[in-house]
Amino acid sequence: MGLGGNWRTVQEAYRKIAVVYEKANMLATLGNVDRWRKEAISLYFKLDGKTPIKVLDAGAGPGNMALHIKAEKYVVALDVTPEMLLLNTVADDKVVGMFEYMPFRAKGFDLLVAGYSLHAAVDIEKAVAEFSRVAGYQVVVSIGNPDNVVVRKLLLFYTKYVLPRLVCIVAPKEICNEYKKIYTIVKSIPTNAILREIIKKYATILVFKEKGLGSVYLYIARSLNAS
Ligand SMILES: C[S@@+](CC[C@H](N)C(=O)[O-])C[C@H]1O[C@@H](n2cnc3c(N)ncnc32)[C@H](O)[C@@H]1O
Repeated sequence: MGLGGNWRTVQEAYRKIAVVYEKANMLATLGNVDRWRKEAISLYFKLDGKTPIKVLDAGAGPGNMALHIKAEKYVVALDVTPEMLLLNTVADDKVVGMFEYMPFRAKGFDLLVAGYSLHAAVDIEKAVAEFSRVAGYQVVVSIGNPDNVVVRKLLLFYTKYVLPRLVCIVAPKEICNEYKKIYTIVKSIPTNAILREIIKKYATILVFKEKGLGSVYLYIARSLNAS
């Protein structure tokens, strides 16, 4: 389950939106985009207490997720879009690659963080399996699909008709049109309840929180193979 055949169309968008990326996200989430990244990272530190040394930022983009880990660390940024990685000034190493086929050994990282990227996977289950294979813990914030049917319909309406127009306030037309693809994402991803079941096959969920009526979720999980 994931974007499957729609993946390539959505992927083109990341190349085009790179320059206005964070401004547009602020509008799309009504100002919450970074607050939710910070919350996820700080919840991890409250739970675990152990400082991660080797960190993998999956779908790192400009690095806005790893940025919030204040401790001493070595960060590898993995992303399939080179244009996004070019903007990344946070990582110590950058790797162009895909979630579903990570070029890393098992348990190579203490912590994997993924900010607003899991929803874009070709195959979400394969991505979660890989997250759990390569890292002891995972902290993920992503676009969700609300379990409640009415809320889901409202979100689909928002992503189809309101969001692209909002983004036009800060971006040229050809870029804000790319935000229409969030509608395709929401239509293709599993509901939040199904996602939890997928995660549980590979990891123990320590925290799962919904934001914006379920349009965004954040979770912290310990991989089943973690030492
Ligand atoms: C919306 S950006 C998120 C960037 C950053 N993590 C943040 O918190 O804002 C999503 C990123 O995930 C990357 N991505 C999408 N699907 C991917 C996949 N299957 N494997 C690796 N990276 C992927 C995209 O190229 C894009 O840079």
